[in-house]
Amino acid sequence: MFNINNILRENIKNLTPYSSARDEFQGEASVFLDANENAFGSPLEDQYNRYPDPLQYNVKMRLSEIKGVPARNIFLGNGSDEAIDILFRSFCNPGVDNVILVPPTYGMYEVSANINDVKAKKVSLTTDYQLNLEGISEAIDEHTKMIFICSPNNPTGNSINRDDIETLLANFDGLVVVDEAYINFSRQKTFIQELTEYSNLVVLQTLSKAWGLAGLRIGMAFASEEIIEVMNKVKPPYNINEASQQLAIKALANVDQVNEWIKETLAQRDKLVLKLKDLDFVLDIYPSDANFILVKTTDPKGVYNFLVKKGIIVRDRSKIDLCEGSLRITVGTPAENEILIDTLKQFK
Ligand SMILES: Cc1ncc(COP(=O)(O)O)c(C=O)c1O
Repeated sequence: MFNINNILRENIKNLTPYSSARDEFQGEASVFLDANENAFGSPLEDQYNRYPDPLQYNVKMRLSEIKGVPARNIFLGNGSDEAIDILFRSFCNPGVDNVILVPPTYGMYEVSANINDVKAKKVSLTTDYQLNLEGISEAIDEHTKMIFICSPNNPTGNSINRDDIETLLANFDGLVVVDEAYINFSRQKTFIQELTEYSNLVVLQTLSKAWGLAGLRIGMAFASEEIIEVMNKVKPPYNINEASQQLAIKALANVDQVNEWIKETLAQRDKLVLKLKDLDFVLDIYPSDANFILVKTTDPKGVYNFLVKKGIIVRDRSKIDLCEGSLRITVGTPAENEILIDTLKQFK
């Protein structure tokens, strides 16, 4: 049975979080002399001289409406990368605990593990990029605190079988972190509706991909209230700045625009796949549920360098196990995709 107290670090359990000026006074007032801000204003058109809301209430209310998840089950991070780091800092004792990663997958899980001196036990995906459940089960020991599953997976693009993720959720006594950075492009259902079913579930999403706000740095974690409380206790007090909060609220009113882009991206992805298939140096294109495709070629380095010379940058993933020969290509605008294909046709 999952119990948060069994996996929480002792120092975090006992932590008294930083209490900011705005935590200590909440209510109506006209003179704020409590936070050592500049009372005159900002040397800008917009005013940023006041600290932002530490718990980002207004952004979360809007997200709650869109996602159908109560605000108390939402954590906001400076990108989902911050949420990943905070999970490590909250639940993993440096030099003692470990997590399970299933490569090839998103690189930050391992970097965060290394930063926090937490061992990353790797259980490779199968050759069809699915979970090796038996391998994962063998790798779990008494110090295993988290399992990271990226679905749709970066860099392979496919979704991970839902039943397999549910098997982990039902049988593992630590956290199962399901990173859904690319969920808006997926045919699969999100896991955020399963929070009431699984108390050990953490779902990560981001405004950096489909929402087109990578520069604002806003990532989301959805989890039980008790997990969210821990993450809020550990995060820096003002981790989402005022400009990002205001712009996120504005952007979140434009759901229709985002849905249109998603549709167009998927149509462009299908077109791109058809055209890439015609190129004789393309060996395989893996089925994608994301806004990128993994393309196996006869000469990844050659293709990569050729594209760079023409001012087109893709991601060379050919050195990664199970991705030998492969380039990861993000779906661009119709014009960008056309330039890519026209350029690739010139590659010898
Ligand atoms: C799977 C996955 N998770 C998380 C992130 C990071 O997202 P953010 O911009 O919210 O930090 C990325 C970025 O590429 C990603 O591919």
